[in-house]
Amino acid sequence: MSACRLRFVAAALVAAALVAGCEKGPMDSIQRGYRGLGMVEIYNPNIEAAKWDANQPPPPLPAAAAGSPPASAVFKNLQVLNDLSVAELTRLMVAMTSWVAPQQGCAYCHAEGDLASDALYTKVVARRMLQMTRAINDGNKAHVANTGVTCYTCHRGQNVPADIWFLDPGPKTASGPAGNRAGQNAPAPAVGYASLPFDPFTPFLEQANEIRVVATTALPGGDHKSIKQAEWTYALMMHISQALNVNCTYCHNTRSFAEWDASTPQRAVAWHAIRTVREINADYLVPLKPVFPANRLGPTGDAPKANCATCHQGAFKPLYGAPMLKDYPELTRVGGVATAAGAAGVPASDVLAKVLFDTGRKNLGTDANAAIARVVDALKKNAALTVDVSGFADRTGNPEQNLQLAKERALAVRDALQGAGIGGNRINLKKPEFAIGGAEADARRVDVVAAK
Ligand code: HEC
Ligand code: HEC
Ligand code: HEC
Ligand code: HEC
Repeated sequence: MSACRLRFVAAALVAAALVAGCEKGPMDSIQRGYRGLGMVEIYNPNIEAAKWDANQPPPPLPAAAAGSPPASAVFKNLQVLNDLSVAELTRLMVAMTSWVAPQQGCAYCHAEGDLASDALYTKVVARRMLQMTRAINDGNKAHVANTGVTCYTCHRGQNVPADIWFLDPGPKTASGPAGNRAGQNAPAPAVGYASLPFDPFTPFLEQANEIRVVATTALPGGDHKSIKQAEWTYALMMHISQALNVNCTYCHNTRSFAEWDASTPQRAVAWHAIRTVREINADYLVPLKPVFPANRLGPTGDAPKANCATCHQGAFKPLYGAPMLKDYPELTRVGGVATAAGAAGVPASDVLAKVLFDTGRKNLGTDANAAIARVVDALKKNAALTVDVSGFADRTGNPEQNLQLAKERALAVRDALQGAGIGGNRINLKKPEFAIGGAEADARRVDVVAAK
């Protein structure tokens, strides 16, 4: 008899209130492998609906206005965001405030009256967080794809993310052999209260200990994996399953946990994810220890650290895969200063034409030809006018290919201008750039700007 049924019997006898702990059906199941393999995820639609609502990201802020000067020309102490325009920096600051410190506002990171000052530790941490977020987004695509992360992915409007971990000193135990629990048998939520090691994080998500434990030979030979090591691996796997709210078969075929061919594609993503988290902890969070005040450190004085739950928070993809990063290109490292207009200090009104392209295409459509005809007209009316032609790319996909495409689009526009009788000496080709902010379609464009 299942636990739930037992409770129903008890409820009938004692009090109806006791059934409150049982999940109300019906349950949904999603088959994720061949029939008969038990590769199935079971969900309670009632619980999922509430979680879906809780995981909706806030609506994006309006795009930064074009034509704003480079932030580095205006502000004194930019060490990371010196590739943004003033408008982009301001937009990002407003977003960061709502993601990390909505109650405290700018003053959470900025000392009274001096935005350039690094007096508050929160600003120093936030600067490192900016570098970390960009590194996650640019260097870990095999895991976070183009969905990427923002500060909100972890913080969700709180100063400290809901799921962080510290080195766990474990319970106090008797001295001598009786007291040696080998790091386990102390019920811990991180491992589903199983009698498994209660700190699977330090060895696997901070340090890079071996996770594979299944012997590759039938008889003991050179392969000396112990049952204890296997228990540590299982402890980590319990955490991974809980953090993503999936069971083991989301990644493994239980016929062979080890075999990659039998595993789902998600296991390969998870392999990369383990490396992402090690990087977050070892390169960013652990070194911040001297920056944090004592009340932010763990019981043994270590820095707060991240695990799978820090981003995922019980969803197979954080925020169920909502692609927040596309609305905040400021949080990727690629790309130079703002828009071409901003970089050159040219007001947006000097843009003679904005030539738009379809995704992945470089040929000129009807609208594009009409825009180019207007430029030709202007050039013919004003013999002193010369133009800058700049190709832009969006950041979805391979950055190098995107920049190449932006260049080819700019060449197509130049060729069309020359084809209409404009001399090549009146057309300056600019280096292709990534568009920052603005609508997605606007990123796939060539700007023709009156040169100064
Ligand atoms: C969560 C922390 C945090 C919050 C909240 C925050 N900022 Fe910042 N701010 C930073 C960091 C970090 C930098 C430095 C970035 C760099 O080094 O590239 C910065 C830099 C700046 C600068 C450039 C200062 C200079 O001279 O170098 C301005 C201006 C600024 N912020 C404005 C604001 C405003 C306005 C708000 C409130 C809407 C705000 N910030 C909220 C962390 C924060
Ligand atoms: C991968 C998850 C993750 C992301 C993404 C992330 N943070 Fe954090 N952040 C953390 C963790 C973990 C801590 C340590 C918690 C603590 O302070 O106790 C932290 C701490 C902070 C703190 C110190 C808070 C305090 O009160 O001690 C600030 C400020 C901060 N983050 C700002 C940011 C900003 C700004 C961004 C985006 C640019 C960002 N974080 C992105 C995980 C993240
Ligand atoms: C989100 C994907 C994911 C889930 C869910 C998951 N695992 Fe894993 N598992 C992995 C990855 C990735 C590795 C290999 C890690 C590495 O090599 O760094 C692994 C390795 C293992 C190994 C070692 C295999 C070997 O080669 O020796 C065992 C055993 C294992 N998992 C068991 C489980 C169990 C039991 C569960 C459920 C409690 C589970 N896993 C849930 C991704 C997952
Ligand atoms: C910095 C935030 C962050 C952390 C920490 C993180 N993830 Fe992810 N993960 C993501 C994002 C973002 C995606 C969505 C990528 C996409 O849209 O394909 C993702 C996707 C995944 C997927 C693919 C799910 C699917 O259904 O395709 C797996 C598996 C995964 N993560 C496993 C892990 C594991 C295991 C850990 C801990 C070792 C972890 N993640 C920690 C951000 C994170």
